[in-house]
Amino acid sequence: MGDPGLMITQFKASLSFLTMTTSKQARTRSSGLSLLTLLASLSVASAKLASTGLSVTLNDVYYFVSPFSSGKVDTPRSLSKVPDVVGFKPVTVIQDRVSQKEVSALLTNWTTIDDVFQPAFAEAIFLAESKGGHRPRSPAVEERHIFPRSSSSIITMKNTKIPSGPYFLEVATGSLYPVYRLYEDFAGAFTEPLIPTPDGKFQPMSAKIPGAASLSVGVPSRLYFTKSAAKPLAGVRIGVKDIYRLAGVKGSNGNRAWYDLYPASSSTGPAIQRLIDAGAQIVGLQKTSQFANGESATADWVDFHAPFNPRGDGYQDPSSSSSGAGASVASYEWLDIAIGSDTGGSIRGPAGVQGLFGNRPSHGLVSLDNVMPLSPTLDTPGFLVRDPKLWDAAQAALYGKNYTSFADKKPKYPKKILTVGFPTSTTSPASKMLVDFANALAKFVNGNVTALDLNTAWAATKPAEAGNITLSQLLNTTYATLITKEQTPLVRDPFYKDYAAAHANRRPFVNPVPLRRWAYGDSLPVSALTAAYAAKSLFMTWFNTHILAPSSPSSDDATCSSALFLYVGAAAGQNPRNAYNGPPGVPFGFGTSRIISVFAEVPDSVFPLGDVAGVGGVSAITGVEERLPVASTCWRPRGGTLEGGEVLMRRGLVGEEEQ
Ligand SMILES: *[C@@H]1O[C@H](CO)[C@@H](O)[C@H](O)[C@H]1NC(C)=O
Ligand SMILES: *[C@@H]1O[C@H](CO)[C@@H](O)[C@H](O)[C@H]1NC(C)=O
Ligand SMILES: *[C@@H]1O[C@H](CO)[C@@H](O)[C@H](O)[C@H]1NC(C)=O
Ligand SMILES: *[C@@H]1O[C@H](CO)[C@@H](O)[C@H](O)[C@H]1NC(C)=O
Ligand SMILES: *[C@@H]1O[C@H](CO)[C@@H](O)[C@H](O)[C@H]1NC(C)=O
Repeated sequence: MGDPGLMITQFKASLSFLTMTTSKQARTRSSGLSLLTLLASLSVASAKLASTGLSVTLNDVYYFVSPFSSGKVDTPRSLSKVPDVVGFKPVTVIQDRVSQKEVSALLTNWTTIDDVFQPAFAEAIFLAESKGGHRPRSPAVEERHIFPRSSSSIITMKNTKIPSGPYFLEVATGSLYPVYRLYEDFAGAFTEPLIPTPDGKFQPMSAKIPGAASLSVGVPSRLYFTKSAAKPLAGVRIGVKDIYRLAGVKGSNGNRAWYDLYPASSSTGPAIQRLIDAGAQIVGLQKTSQFANGESATADWVDFHAPFNPRGDGYQDPSSSSSGAGASVASYEWLDIAIGSDTGGSIRGPAGVQGLFGNRPSHGLVSLDNVMPLSPTLDTPGFLVRDPKLWDAAQAALYGKNYTSFADKKPKYPKKILTVGFPTSTTSPASKMLVDFANALAKFVNGNVTALDLNTAWAATKPAEAGNITLSQLLNTTYATLITKEQTPLVRDPFYKDYAAAHANRRPFVNPVPLRRWAYGDSLPVSALTAAYAAKSLFMTWFNTHILAPSSPSSDDATCSSALFLYVGAAAGQNPRNAYNGPPGVPFGFGTSRIISVFAEVPDSVFPLGDVAGVGGVSAITGVEERLPVASTCWRPRGGTLEGGEVLMRRGLVGEEEQ
């Protein structure tokens, strides 16, 4: 192994001078700080020096050393052979009850379960003193060969509070600092990488891999965290859509003027707090299309550049608005899950085109306080994730008692599989994959697939008060009305007012899509909102009675479901991000299946099925036929329970494994 090649890459400290503020000085400062006042203030100043962390490389791996210590250990003098930068040495803490002989096997295990730990941390190992062991006055040190070709100093340690894992030891004080591994955000998915602070807040991470064209994101060692019943998400690395407010962090909602105008939030909302309480590790805020409206890459994304969808030729639209969530989880193995929000498809869209699991839950399962609204009537929080087991655990943590996991149970499945807008022929590879999935699902539940025409069903069973109105007449403007009439007073109007007050009556910059939509909302009378609520309510009652009724508890109390309802989540369509689109419109119509769960308030989940050659042949970008994701989407009836991903994602059921 040789000596770890430990190198410092940056050292940052914020140095600010506390000055005695007199009214005279304040006046002087506002007109520019003169040398004289600077010197005057220096003479009475006390220097407030704070570390924002330290960046180093260890054997060419980029690390960030947290500025917040995990605790202290007694440090022997004999660690001089371990390299250091500015007094920080890479070390390992072992709290596991292992004998010295087992240390080697344990650390070898660590290299397979943690991407932050590497053998170079093992030149100095602090090993928890075994109970009843002798207690030497000064730390006992023993030299051993833990990894081939390197010798480790094993030091007995009394501190049992510091979790196992890699650390940087500040030799002068004996303080141990947690280590983050730095990764490049090459998909451009994040807006602000974060680290937790000891007071339960967050602060921006002050590190960047030199030369990288993107932000760098730091992830803590997985070894610091132990899953338990109370902490089912311990150590799970999560990205958070930049509409959820976090204590200590400025938000943007995808708008630069907003980021600039408002201070950091003083608190974290209840939804995210539940994930934190369950042990999830927030690694950063992630890009949203502006104010969570639907935007197409690239032209609509004026303030921020749209994240990169890694599938196919790498230049496909990542969909929106939880674009950073989808692009990051699809691109980075080091990130486990992301939380987005879905108002009209903002989770299901990015999940479908990036080959991920994604869910829109029933409406209202958890408070969305401290989250920027698009439409409180329709907004829901959900996840984008690669692993269905983690999906299940995360939903259980977020929705609490409003979620029932069937992962370890054997529920009775509904036998009726309904499809809407599903392909019938299997001529294209994408159609074949979707049809095969529906048939395999029917076989699995020992039931039948029935294609449903919603318009025909509506004509046959619609309520009397609907008259002879069609579904597309009833719901044509409902979504556009709700999102604009609800968002403008809640978000736009106070924003414009605050911005005008701070910027001499100016209006802030806003992207074309939200501007166009808000203008539509302004064109409507107040009564339009009442009409939209009525239309939504009429549809929801009809749908949840005649189309997707909960099963009666007596017939089947495990599934609560009379049917499973499938529609196409993604069908390997090409949607390149280098297309010039016309000016944005308003989302009218009732054409897409995605909107049904929005109005009916039923849970709606995306299941990646695999990938096939993209529709339309070779990519115009790479000149090669690239593969793109196919996904099915599944609604279930509204009710107190939701299934975990494990229910439908039994291996072998869904054709190709997701990559
Ligand atoms: C290493 O991991 C294996 C498999 O998870 C486990 O059985 C074994 O006990 C571990 N060894 C140590 C020393 O932790
Ligand atoms: C569950 O959902 C209900 C209704 O939507 C809501 O009032 C309640 O607060 C939720 N419960 C929890 C534990 O979040
Ligand atoms: C499937 O549909 C056929 C024809 O409609 C029907 O005879 C059969 O009983 C159905 N099977 C199940 C399991 O519902
Ligand atoms: C609805 O019914 C009325 C009469 O009750 C009729 O005048 C009208 O043309 C019908 N509209 C449609 C779209 O069928
Ligand atoms: C939907 O509403 C828009 C705006 O009022 C209108 O232009 C369009 O024709 C309507 N479409 C349908 C199908 O009613």
